[in-house]
Amino acid sequence: MAKAVALAPDSWIPGGEPDPMIEHRHGLIGKPISRLDGPLKVTGSAPFAAEFPMHGMVYAAIAYSTVAKGRIATLDTTAAEASSGVVLVMTHRTAPRLKPTPLFMSAAKAAGGDNLPVMQDERIHWNGQPLAVVLAETQEEADHAISLIRVTYESEAAETDFAQAEARGTRTAAFMGQPLHDAKGDAEVALAEAPVKVDAVYTTPRHNHNPIELHAVTLAWQGETLRVHDTQQMVAHAAWTLAQVFELSEEQVVVTSPFVGGGFGSKTLWQHHILAAAAGKLVGRPVRLVLSREGVYRVVGGRSPTKQRVALGSDPHGRLTALIHSGVTAKTPHNGMPEPFILPTRSAYASETILLDVQQVELDMLGNTFMRAPGEAVGTFALECALDELAHELGIDPVELRIRNEPKEDPTSGLPFSARHIVEAWQAGAERFGWSRRNPQPGAVRDGEWLVGMGCATGTYPYYRMPGGAARLTLTRDGQAIVDIAAHEMGMGTATVQTQVTAERLGLPMEKIRFNYGDSTLPGVVMAGGSQQTAAIGASMIAVYNKLVAELLTLAGNDSPLAGLKAEDVGARNAGLCKRDAPERFETYASILSRAQREALTVEAAPPQPLEIMHWSMHSHAAMFCEVRVNAVTGEPRVSRFLGSFDCGRILNPKTAASQFRGGIIMGMGLALMEETQFDERNGRVMNPSLAEYHVPVHLDVPEIDVIWTDIPDPHTPMGARGVGEIGITGTGAAVANAIFNATGKRVRDLPITLDKLM
Ligand code: MOS
Repeated sequence: MAKAVALAPDSWIPGGEPDPMIEHRHGLIGKPISRLDGPLKVTGSAPFAAEFPMHGMVYAAIAYSTVAKGRIATLDTTAAEASSGVVLVMTHRTAPRLKPTPLFMSAAKAAGGDNLPVMQDERIHWNGQPLAVVLAETQEEADHAISLIRVTYESEAAETDFAQAEARGTRTAAFMGQPLHDAKGDAEVALAEAPVKVDAVYTTPRHNHNPIELHAVTLAWQGETLRVHDTQQMVAHAAWTLAQVFELSEEQVVVTSPFVGGGFGSKTLWQHHILAAAAGKLVGRPVRLVLSREGVYRVVGGRSPTKQRVALGSDPHGRLTALIHSGVTAKTPHNGMPEPFILPTRSAYASETILLDVQQVELDMLGNTFMRAPGEAVGTFALECALDELAHELGIDPVELRIRNEPKEDPTSGLPFSARHIVEAWQAGAERFGWSRRNPQPGAVRDGEWLVGMGCATGTYPYYRMPGGAARLTLTRDGQAIVDIAAHEMGMGTATVQTQVTAERLGLPMEKIRFNYGDSTLPGVVMAGGSQQTAAIGASMIAVYNKLVAELLTLAGNDSPLAGLKAEDVGARNAGLCKRDAPERFETYASILSRAQREALTVEAAPPQPLEIMHWSMHSHAAMFCEVRVNAVTGEPRVSRFLGSFDCGRILNPKTAASQFRGGIIMGMGLALMEETQFDERNGRVMNPSLAEYHVPVHLDVPEIDVIWTDIPDPHTPMGARGVGEIGITGTGAAVANAIFNATGKRVRDLPITLDKLM
């Protein structure tokens, strides 16, 4: 266990300076600024990956395997090649020889995607693997030619049945290079001795990604450069990976992604990128490849199924003496992303004993990947349902039970929390939701043929800050500031919020800030994932701002009111710098630059390593409240009210944050009631690869969602903020399930909770 280190409470990094933005109570921080890209979106002028025009472009379509494992016996492409408009049919026989795909983030051993060869041989590894690519003059001609390809297979026995694979044996899973196993005391013994206990198994199905914008690339080989218009949440990683595969230097691959129509963990590098680039190389023409909705299910991985045991032992007052969260998930032999469902439990409750363990099996399937709050989304479903079961057992209010088990420090790492105000979130949420009106007796409240119930659950998601951030900042004499960073705007409001914070930091109006992102040639290796992009950009901006101030002071020299000041004594306001405690000692940027005879000043810097996560246990928190109505005749469940009460540090922009919270909660409602990949366990085929048969919430399914927050800054993060992207989906599934139990008396432990399970 790591040891806590005493540090100054106002340093956001261990031993460092406080971020002045943490306490900015006036100005732009915390203002509900509307999205700067809003007009572009509503007028249809924001360009997406499949909309970039390129001269002489051809269109691509893919043929997919219909068996899970084996080899291609025959592959007849003659008719496809002779079909109208066809420019190329690429198969493993004709594809260029490629280097293996490095496992994404392989150093951290947390891989989305996989390291299988891409169309290099006749081997088949999953049902849906690309077998051939057609390029044609039109999309229709490409799609038609695909239908003319004839394949026969030599199938081999494949492992596609989760339960059978489990019966054959499991092994301990690892996430980010760490085994998914924690133990404190002997939890099994404590459970056996506990006067009150619950011990149950919860199952969650596979989920597939369904961003509205299909995965797409428009790309071209331009001389020695591969230029890729993509829909990406990690442009720099994508460029690096393509460079490895095609044996290019990183500078020879340019990946841009100005707008992303939904990512959720899926907009990373998959086989279709490599296939489009390989086919384009063969024909020497630009290629547009848009996966069909079915294609997204065949090529882009999703969330793995889980079978989770949660066992809780408590004393008669509801204090936990044993907390066991264990179970099994599935991955493939060729990727490294088990669904890490114990992560939320590590820091959840002050139990005397704890046992956490994830076992994995390996199946012959498409490599699974990140999906909004991997681990926490389904892990909190099991954990927080079990808490509700214990509350019912004990006759203690479920909110009160959680507060009674609030830990003083992180129960598995022993680290102090950077900031944890979940009790405030519970109290504010319960008050606003009208929790005191809940009848604890299940099945007791009825409105005509509808049974009505309320449930609650804790949501949680860790604060991360990935290494690799960097930013460039240019200040011009006419008062503009230009930020360059290889970050992403997927609809979260990143560009808006960072423009806000940069304006505040520099003492400039927002109109004077240009925030450039979504281009792999810009500084930094920042991914929009793990709800950490705001922190990663924020830390980079602090570093580059500090460097800018130091260089401006040098330029200002001895003839300035700032003469002799050190960078740490200086702050920004009114388009210039001033002494923090004597603001009349002030000079504008324009004045400093003109006296130095400079048109502009450009600096670039990288932040320190993310050591804060070694010193503090850092998490966003939420208290989720749900009211459901379940039809007593048909079993139809309907969420009628929902409130999320969040503790995510400083909220930088209430409008964009509220939208993130609501989006996550809507995904959580889908997780609770609808989402399920129908996977034929006999042959590994996804049987519902369409939005007609894979159900997600639509407008009619979603009531008004109320969101509130503590807005208490976290002193150990840039700007005092923690992540808001993924937490909304956490806890929500359990809040819905617990409300359904309260409404009906039926405890459904198998997601999704469809009406057949409630009849
Ligand atoms: Mo998220 S699943 O880290 O894009």
